[in-house]
Amino acid sequence: MPDWTNTSLIASDQEYDHAPLIRTVVTPDGDHGGVSSATLLVSALGIFEGFVDGKPDGPDVFSPGWSSYEWRMRVYSCDVAALVSDRPFVLGFSLGKGWAAGRIPFTTPGGFYAHEPAIIAQLEIVYSDGHRQLVGTDASWQSGPSQTTFHEIYDGQSVDARIDVSGWNSDVTDREGWTGVSVQELDTHRLVPYDGPRVVRHEDIAPQRIWTSPSGKTLVDFGQNLVGWIRLSVSAPAGTEITIRHAEVLEHEELGTRPLRTAKATDTYTTSGGDDVFEPTKTFHGFRYAEVSGWPGELDPEALRAVVVHSQMDRIGHFECSDDMLNQLYSNIVWGQRGNFFDVPTDCPQRDERLGWTGDIAAFAPTAAFIYDVKGFLGEWLKNVDAEQAHHDGIVPFVVPDVLKFFERPNRPRESTCLWSDAGVWVPWAIYEAYGDEEDLRASFGTMRGHLDHVETLLSPTGLWDTGFQFADWLDPNAPPDDPFKAVADKGVVATACLFRSADLTARTARILGETEAAERYEAYAARLKEAFNAHYVDGGRITSDCATVYALAISFDLLSPADERAAGDRLAELAEANGYRVATGFAGTPFVLHALSRTGHDDVAYRMLLERECPSWLYPVTMGATTIWERWDSMLPDGTINPGQMTSFNHYAFGAVADWMHKVIGGINPLEPGYSRVLIAPKPGGGLTWASTSLDTPHGTVAVTWRNESGQVDVDVTLPEGVSGVFRGPDGTEKDLAAGRVSLQISA
Ligand code: BGC
Repeated sequence: MPDWTNTSLIASDQEYDHAPLIRTVVTPDGDHGGVSSATLLVSALGIFEGFVDGKPDGPDVFSPGWSSYEWRMRVYSCDVAALVSDRPFVLGFSLGKGWAAGRIPFTTPGGFYAHEPAIIAQLEIVYSDGHRQLVGTDASWQSGPSQTTFHEIYDGQSVDARIDVSGWNSDVTDREGWTGVSVQELDTHRLVPYDGPRVVRHEDIAPQRIWTSPSGKTLVDFGQNLVGWIRLSVSAPAGTEITIRHAEVLEHEELGTRPLRTAKATDTYTTSGGDDVFEPTKTFHGFRYAEVSGWPGELDPEALRAVVVHSQMDRIGHFECSDDMLNQLYSNIVWGQRGNFFDVPTDCPQRDERLGWTGDIAAFAPTAAFIYDVKGFLGEWLKNVDAEQAHHDGIVPFVVPDVLKFFERPNRPRESTCLWSDAGVWVPWAIYEAYGDEEDLRASFGTMRGHLDHVETLLSPTGLWDTGFQFADWLDPNAPPDDPFKAVADKGVVATACLFRSADLTARTARILGETEAAERYEAYAARLKEAFNAHYVDGGRITSDCATVYALAISFDLLSPADERAAGDRLAELAEANGYRVATGFAGTPFVLHALSRTGHDDVAYRMLLERECPSWLYPVTMGATTIWERWDSMLPDGTINPGQMTSFNHYAFGAVADWMHKVIGGINPLEPGYSRVLIAPKPGGGLTWASTSLDTPHGTVAVTWRNESGQVDVDVTLPEGVSGVFRGPDGTEKDLAAGRVSLQISA
């Protein structure tokens, strides 16, 4: 750990619209030879962009991200050897409120972690003779105004280019009018390494269409619901004010902003009179459409670009097939992940929320871990889960970082709740399955145990988890739009089943880690839950509340006897058919329903459900032109109006968990050992698809499966990387050993 002795947390001594610039002039120590290394360490309450001698210290924005700041202020580290000069130079930071000092969440005033942005930074230069020079933030630094006159993550940013900041980060001469900084108390034990990936800009997207709405507004369509911001270039008389509002959808041919709730999502630019380029880096928006007003003359499409922004992650998994609707669904799932992996795995990226809801990622983690390499991203987030839980009696909260604890929510007790709190077990397990690193289990083993031990105190005398507050099968399409709590699935069934899965996975984790005593404890815990579940909820294969979710969970989690599992599978298929193959599950059941059908011999029903287009279904949003996964099955109603419910996002990844079935069953790629060191290749052609191609860059190399159905005769090409072996299983159950390399097989569909 670095030595912070002479380095302080500092903030501007003026308000400067909470977006101050701060800087110092560094005079390199002479006579020590050239620079052999230069490392910049920075943490902040708020967000920063760093500059060394006028150049950005890295490509990141929104650093150091959002962590459970009370215990984990992450220290961003970067190599700036190429940027430091041998003559005096400026080390400067542009600060913003971010999550720590900004308005978050909902309608609260925010500022829960800090009243103003504050930063602690240290530059260490090592010269060729071994001499070390340390420059740290302290009372001698200076602060001044930036061009940002307003900014909030939810509400947007205002920039006034008439404010002269030229040379602020490159010119060493004293800056007129700048003031000092105040030094703040900081317990440096809170400073921890920032191991996860940084938030960076990705591609730019050009407008696809610009037109005038019925009310006379200039609207722009970028063709894709995305997360980031709009960069614009403009030359206009000084003082021209241009305003951009953002929205995910149109309603009645105008911008549909109601789902944003109180988030204003509005950026305002005031021109300097020269050539201006505006890019708001202290806010982000979830949008496909924009409304531009104040533009001088006709809006030039070349002047606008949507900039996609999210955490840096490598794309590792791909799926494509002969059905364009399914390909669009898959693309929507990928974009849902992109937009919501913004330092924290969030529920949504656009309204006055954008929180690390634990249930959402519990549902989506296996899919996420296939599409992108999320080991670092989710591993980092789990450290926050661990920190929050350690300070809350073993409770894994609804959201991590837990901002909900800062204010009263009378109808939402601070207590463990199924699926959401189970994230403390399910997410590390998903990472382990995907990448095969036992250290990831070890890192979360305490969280897993804490969760189970706490929930044990909440169980009824019957041994069921059927008391207390539960979201359970949240957003079941059969619940009324304004009351998503009213899911059909019995809350006790859902909670006890989810807890059983957690106990089972924790017991397995304990075995893997060689923790025999703990393994026995959680095996017995799981066995008790299974017994209670069967005794109270299962009768001849029928499960209390008799709906898709309860069967999906009981089958997928191995809660039933073989005979009951068969009966439950048949009942699930029967319910699906009676429901016209439309979806009848919410957050809890959706990730598992197609797997449960497949496991009980109903692949045909699973395919029919996946391909169903009537609402509610996975493809219904595709028929409505969706380019991301929606929060509700019917976020947009068939008549093109927005669902009247209070929560209606068009970018929520949870229901995209169906891609796990697409990867494993259509594509046929399954890990036999965690991390895919051995694989089960078991594609099940169906649904009228004529081909499908799926691949995954595993830690051992690329596994790829392509099949083509030529009228009943299916040719399958399998590629396994060096060192990976496995088993091929045909749809009829016959198996064949697979070795590394490429092999072509034939099966009948
Ligand atoms: C969020 C969800 C979340 C849920 C739990 C919503 O407001 O957007 O995705 O899991 O609340 O209640």
